[in-house]
Amino acid sequence: MSKASGLEGVVVAETKLSSVDGERGRLVIAGQDVETLAARATFEEVAALLLGAPLSLGPTRARAFERIGGLGDALDRTDGMDALRAAVAHLPGDAPAADVVAAPAVFVAAWARRRAGHGPVAPDPARGHAEDFLAMVKGAPPRHAERAALDAYFVTVVDHGMNASTFAARVVASTRSDLVSAVVAAIGALKGPLHGGAPGPVLEMLDAIGTPDRARAWLDRELARGRRIMGMGHRVYRVRDPRAAVLERAVESLARAGVAAPRLALARAVEREAVTLLAERHPDRALRANVEWYTSVLLGALGLPPALFTPTFAVSRVLGWTAHVAEERALGRLIRPASRYVGPLPPNEPGVPSEA
Ligand SMILES: CC(C)(COP(=O)(O)OP(=O)(O)OC[C@H]1O[C@@H](n2cnc3c(N)ncnc32)[C@H](O)[C@@H]1OP(=O)(O)O)[C@@H](O)C(=O)NCCC(=O)NCCS
Repeated sequence: MSKASGLEGVVVAETKLSSVDGERGRLVIAGQDVETLAARATFEEVAALLLGAPLSLGPTRARAFERIGGLGDALDRTDGMDALRAAVAHLPGDAPAADVVAAPAVFVAAWARRRAGHGPVAPDPARGHAEDFLAMVKGAPPRHAERAALDAYFVTVVDHGMNASTFAARVVASTRSDLVSAVVAAIGALKGPLHGGAPGPVLEMLDAIGTPDRARAWLDRELARGRRIMGMGHRVYRVRDPRAAVLERAVESLARAGVAAPRLALARAVEREAVTLLAERHPDRALRANVEWYTSVLLGALGLPPALFTPTFAVSRVLGWTAHVAEERALGRLIRPASRYVGPLPPNEPGVPSEA
């Protein structure tokens, strides 16, 4: 398969939202390094930076909560991303950006409660978005350190260049379709295990390995079976994903505040083994931990089950998608690339003109 099939290195848009330097391992979001932003900003503050104006998410969470009764069987789906996609699709096409950004937190929390056999918990507009999300999922307000860790996570994953789901959103927006349709497409892309679906499997891998001494044999067996190690490798980064370090530090802060982070030491040990084994197999391709490695440890320490990991990613990334849709609308032209026909030709035809 040619590299062109993955559009590697192809610039499809100009953006002021985020910049990914894969060689140096640097991520800049809205003009600030991800390390700085994650340490200082809340989700709402980053929303104001990315959208150019503050979003009032408290009242819009309340509006999304009122919609839950009208979602039909959307929240009965077994898979959280299926449920989120179906629930967001219920929003009116002309829903304002604040509604679209706020709703996933409410829908994902209601889905998690239903899955656990409980009723939904109403949002509290006075709380911050991260704090309220945890309160709606768990049914009790989080500790300060937990809120801070989830805010750091939300800020860290909010936007990341022209990743697959953002591209999907921009393609839809470039047709002048509505924001809800763009976000539904993006949720579909984020669900895939090569994009946002990895943190659940990372946690399951850590639990299956159990202790550092078993890591090498377990990873060896997976690779011998031709499987990929989830949470390792990245299309753009040739060094360790900078978000892995930010989230690793956020987990350390949680542990210092007395919130148990039982998998942190194991994750570090398994990461070392995985990097060594992958380097042996792919000496010319640096395969290192990506954002999902410590996402799994962080969200696990916050008491969220693996089934909630990718939906929680979407609760933050919907802000990035929304900002990209606005940018695409302001600047963009219909995204319509070309393909090269390699199929059969009708008999006695000299050739079919190339699309490009
Ligand atoms: C993220 C990912 C899809 C990037 O894919 P990509 O850019 O197409 O992959 P690369 O071109 O870097 O792959 C180079 C080689 O390394 C291998 N490789 C890449 N990631 C690997 C992994 N996690 N485990 C084992 N092998 C891996 C590929 O199979 C390929 O091998 P080949 O040349 O023998 O076919 C890929 O690294 C992956 O599948 N990672 C696991 C899923 C994951 O964590 N996703 C979340 C991303 S944030």
